[in-house]
Amino acid sequence: MPRDTILTGHVLSFHANPLTNPAAQSARISEAVLIRDGHIAASGAIDDLRAAAPDAQVDRHDGHLICAGFIDAHAHYPQTAIIASWGKRLIDWLNDYTFPEEMRLSDPAYGARIAERYLDLTLAHGTTTTVSFCTSHPASVDAFFTAARARGLRAAAGKTCMDRNAPPGLCDSARSAHDDSAALIARWHGVDRLSYVITPRFAPTSSAEQLDALGALWAAHPDCLMQTHLCEQIEEIAWVKRLFPKARDYLDVYESHGLLSERALFGHAIHLAPRETARLAESGAALIHCPTSNSFIGSGLFDIGQRLSEGQRIGLATDTGGGSSFSMLRTMAAAYEIAQLTGTALHPAQLLWLATGAGAAALHMQDRIGNIAPGLEADLVILDLASTPAIAQRHARADDIWEAVFPTIMMGDDRAIRQVWIAGWPYDPQ
Ligand code: GUN
Ligand code: ZN
Repeated sequence: MPRDTILTGHVLSFHANPLTNPAAQSARISEAVLIRDGHIAASGAIDDLRAAAPDAQVDRHDGHLICAGFIDAHAHYPQTAIIASWGKRLIDWLNDYTFPEEMRLSDPAYGARIAERYLDLTLAHGTTTTVSFCTSHPASVDAFFTAARARGLRAAAGKTCMDRNAPPGLCDSARSAHDDSAALIARWHGVDRLSYVITPRFAPTSSAEQLDALGALWAAHPDCLMQTHLCEQIEEIAWVKRLFPKARDYLDVYESHGLLSERALFGHAIHLAPRETARLAESGAALIHCPTSNSFIGSGLFDIGQRLSEGQRIGLATDTGGGSSFSMLRTMAAAYEIAQLTGTALHPAQLLWLATGAGAAALHMQDRIGNIAPGLEADLVILDLASTPAIAQRHARADDIWEAVFPTIMMGDDRAIRQVWIAGWPYDPQ
């Protein structure tokens, strides 16, 4: 493999945030991208890039879309094998399907198999970075990071902490959650492209002591992200009120234990009170929109137009296996549909940004991933814009690039993924 590679196609890059600026004008389509030493060196006209790198190998993907690899900002890799489990809302779904499956990861060999399976599936769907919950077993974190590292991925994950309202086999304690998480930070945070995420599952499964311990751990490691769930279902919010009667609201449970800052990732965040939206916007924390999950387990409609008008930072995620797909294309389609139901028509540039640059910003990694811009790591996905007969016939009618891309966003799946690049190398699943 030569040092330099030029990929040709419709190369999509963003020079502004299309959620807060005119969408189409925030994006640029160029003819080619130059990759050097695992990073993006430049994008632009083919002749200019050839002149800059005369020895570069040229890989032609003409007619296809080349964009940053997808970033799934909230997933549960241990739930891979129970995706699409029928008929339950959140609390019953956790008790009946999720916790029994997560118990199986007490076997490290099973955890390693699921981590490999999960990353093979998500790479086949064009996802190059996942932020994942693991289980409460520290070995489940080792399994995920080992599999991600073997594939050269930028990945983020943490041991799910819970010390109550879950089966005894999954419960840790305030002390062990703190100490095990601290040991995992020492083992994995900053190794290659991996970063550790402090991970209390959600308020109902943590005691106040455990939340305090994790708040203290975060204060000691402020460069870590923190992820959890917030205001996903109405019944869950009522439960939190009963468990934490002194809290002003659900967000206050986290805030009062030192678990709110701009490096917090709050999954779902659907049913928010005005104080919560104000504090979230003020803190700069990210709300992670999980549209297929919000429909699948009946959680509700995330009002993206309203949240954007408040200035919230927003990422997009599958929430596998509460979410019903591994595909960020399918997740963009669901985000489009849910936005329509709440009165907002998201532009294709906005949907692609949600799956790339918005996720990178939520992770505070916008200087590394999430866009095609000089200096960023070359994690890329090349999309076939006519991957099925149904998509191809609609694509044939397109008058501009956005009309050419939108059928793939709405109807595409892993068949649309022509190639994935990880840190400047084409990924070979063998
Ligand atoms: N809330 C607490 N745990 C979970 C989980 O695993 N999935 C979802 N969707 N919500 C949760
Ligand atoms: Zn989740």
